[in-house]
Amino acid sequence: MSNDFAIGIHDLSFATTEFTLPHAVLAEYNGTEIGKYHVGIGQQSMSVPAADEDIVTMAAAAAAPITARHGADRIRTVVFATESSIDQAKSAGVYVHSLLGLPSACRVVELKQACYGATAALQFAIGLVRRDPAQQVLVIASDVSKYDLDSPGEATQGAAAVAMLVGVDPALVRIEEPSGLFTADVMDFWRPNYRETALVDGQESITAYLQAVEGSWKDYGEQGGRPLEEFAAFCYHQPFTKMAYKAHRHLLNYCGYETDKDAIEDAIGQTTAYNTVIGNSYTAAVYLALAALLDQADDLAGRSIGFLSYGSGSVAEFFAGTVVPGYRQHLRTAAHRAAVDRRKPVGYPEYRELHERSLPADGGDHLTPSQTTGPFRLAALSGHKRIYETR
Ligand code: HMG
Repeated sequence: MSNDFAIGIHDLSFATTEFTLPHAVLAEYNGTEIGKYHVGIGQQSMSVPAADEDIVTMAAAAAAPITARHGADRIRTVVFATESSIDQAKSAGVYVHSLLGLPSACRVVELKQACYGATAALQFAIGLVRRDPAQQVLVIASDVSKYDLDSPGEATQGAAAVAMLVGVDPALVRIEEPSGLFTADVMDFWRPNYRETALVDGQESITAYLQAVEGSWKDYGEQGGRPLEEFAAFCYHQPFTKMAYKAHRHLLNYCGYETDKDAIEDAIGQTTAYNTVIGNSYTAAVYLALAALLDQADDLAGRSIGFLSYGSGSVAEFFAGTVVPGYRQHLRTAAHRAAVDRRKPVGYPEYRELHERSLPADGGDHLTPSQTTGPFRLAALSGHKRIYETR
C-alpha cells in the first residue's frame, strides 16, 4: 500500500458554554486594573458552563455538526482528549458516541496529558488512518478550566470543545511530518484526583512553557523540519492569548531573529479571536487558535502553519500543517461566531454560585437545573450515573 497520501483535518467544529463572564466584571469585583486583563494577559471574557453543561455536552455539541455533514459510516475510532475527566474508568467519549448515535463497530478511548492531550489524539489518529486510509477518526478535545476563586489563575479560566474529523485527502489542513517533541518532569500545573480546581505555580508555568517551545523547536529542526520563514502563522497553545506572543517572541529570539512587534503580530494576530473571549479551554485551545486563523485570514491555501501544543507537567510538540486549496468552502465561520455570540453574560454573584456548585456525591436521584439552551444537557444524576438528554 502506498504511504504517500495526505492525511489531516477534514472538518473542524467547536462549541462552548451557555454563559460568559466579562473580565471587566471580575476586575470590578476584585479591584484589578482592567488593563492587566485586557492587555497584560490579553483576555476579554471567559466561558462559564451552566449547571447542566460539562465536557460531554460541549463535546457532543461540537461533534454533531461534523457527523451531520459527513455521516458516521467511516468513523471507527473516537479519541476524546481531556484533563477535566468526569470518570476514572469510563471514557467521556462513550457518552458522546451514544448521544451522536455512532456505529457500535467503533473504538472509543480517553487521553490525558494536560493541554497537550488533543495533539496526541490527532497524531494517533493520523497513525490509524495511515494503517487503514478508508477509516476516519473523530478527535474531540473538551475541557473546563477551573482554578480557585480569588487566585491569580481565576482570570485564566474558560471552557470549550473542538471536534475534528481526521482522514485522507483532508479538506482543511494536511498534517506533516516530522514533529518536534519535548518532555520534562516539572510541577508547574497539576490537579490531584481529589481536587476540582488546578494547582499552579504561575510564573514557573510560563518558564516551563517557554522551555518547551525551545525544546520542541530544537527537535523539530533536528528531525528535518521546515525553516521558520516558511510559516505563514503560528498556532500556539493559548492559556491566555498574551502567552502566544511571549512564546513567539521567545522562539524568534532563540532562532536569532529580530523580535519585531509587527512580525509577531503577523504571525499570531489572527489566531487569538476565539481564545480571547472563551478563555483557557486546555486541550481545545490550540485548535481554537487554528479555527480563528482559518475563519479570519486572507486565503491561506498552500501556506504552512506552525503548531505548538503544550501541556503542563510537561509535554510539548511542534509540527506543521499545510492549508488545502479550497478550504474556505468547508469552514464553519458563521456557526463558530454564533457559538461565541449566543453566550449570556453573567454577573459576579451568578458566576460565583456556578463556580462553587459541585455535583451531589450521595448516589441519590438529582435533577440538574435547566439552564443551557444548547443541543445537549446533563439532565440528572441517578445512582452515581450521569443522565444526558438531547433537545
Ligand atoms: P498574575 O500574578 O496575576 O499577573 O499572574 P502578573 O503580575 O504576572 O501580570 C500579568 C501581566 O499583566 C504582566 O505582563 C503584567 O506586566 C501585566 P508580562 O510582564 O507577563 O508581560 N500587567 C498589566 N498590563 C497592562 N496594564 C496593567 C497591568 N497590570 C499588570 N494595568 C498568570 C498571571 C498568567 C501567571 C496567572 O493568571 C496564572 O497563574 N494563570 C494560570 C497559569 C497559566 O495560565 N500559565 C500559562 C503557562 S502554562 C500552560 O499554558 C498550561 C495550562 O494551560 C495547563 C495545561 O497544560 O493543562 C495552564
